[in-house]
Amino acid sequence: MRALILAGGKGTRLRPLTVYTPKPIVPVMNRPFLEYQIEILKRAGIEDITLSLSYQPDKIQHELGFGHELGVNLEYVTEPQPMGTAGAYRFAANRASGPTIVLNGDVLTDLIVTKLIKHHQASGAHATIVLTPVPDPSRYGVVETGDSGEVLGFLEKPSPEALEASGSNLINAGIYVLEPEILELIPEGQNYSFEYNVFPDILEKGLNFSSYQLDKAYWCDIGTPESYLAAHMDFMSGKVKNFPAEQSSEYDRATTTFVDQNSLIGSECVIKPNVTITNSVLGRGVVVEERAVIENSVIWPHTRISNSAEISGAVLARSCYIGKNAIVTPGTVLGNKSSLTDYTKV
Ligand code: GTP
Repeated sequence: MRALILAGGKGTRLRPLTVYTPKPIVPVMNRPFLEYQIEILKRAGIEDITLSLSYQPDKIQHELGFGHELGVNLEYVTEPQPMGTAGAYRFAANRASGPTIVLNGDVLTDLIVTKLIKHHQASGAHATIVLTPVPDPSRYGVVETGDSGEVLGFLEKPSPEALEASGSNLINAGIYVLEPEILELIPEGQNYSFEYNVFPDILEKGLNFSSYQLDKAYWCDIGTPESYLAAHMDFMSGKVKNFPAEQSSEYDRATTTFVDQNSLIGSECVIKPNVTITNSVLGRGVVVEERAVIENSVIWPHTRISNSAEISGAVLARSCYIGKNAIVTPGTVLGNKSSLTDYTKV
């Protein structure tokens, strides 16, 4: 089976992080995000993977190359203009036949892809959608299924009453297996969406539409700053188990600093005396000066944190400068090259 990763969105909800770094390659535990998706496909023996691009395609290609270091063959298809999720599938699939596994390029999961494929084949479905249970499905679209897992309908952002009536807490996990017949539902050259156009069409036409539930697998959509940070917290607390743990690299560390076991420190970092770092990820070449405190945060490469600054629950992108005694409070997200003068509180 071939795989297609949809990686062309602008990632507006993840701004400012995505202004210069497209969402598919934002660092997660210091690895470009798509490497996790490529890994689960490779485990299923899928080595030919197409990436469908639109926003800042060169940066993605430059980061991932031909994929040979990851043990796969990556092919890139760049749209002349954004075509939406289904439009992108149609555009990229034009030259292919046979079923395709399609992944939104922003879901972090350790799904066992072979099980999904077996389920799809056994059900004889035209389309299989992966569903994941969430505690509060009200801000997503809820998917209603029948006794044998067939998809019955979609409720977009349901009211509490509609949610209770449906009894479902299953949402679209952004992963599908599609037979070539589905291509016929998508007009060529148009902006078209799976969620709003294709799936309702599949139901209306009475095609065989199956679902596959992620029960024990980890799943997180990294598309907002909150969920991006949460994915890191899940890695560090051991909740994401099925990827090899990244190890801290060699870095220049004073003997009087404290770095906890959970934290991940990239190569070429410099950590001065009396610094405290807990539950945080530092990218390559981050400099942390005396007495600074960093907790529950993600810091991208080449950012500098000055003396006695305090960073908590924040994401700081590349090459930021945090002045002396500055305080960065939970929920703060700074774009590349942001600069905070001494004593600033954000
Ligand atoms: P937001 O702007 O924050 O909603 O993010 P997004 O642009 O990534 O959109 P969304 O999260 O809905 O997209 C889901 C997946 O589809 C992501 O992996 C996107 O990269 C991808 N995607 C969305 N629109 C397009 C498109 O027009 N072309 C391609 N190739 N991929 C797309």
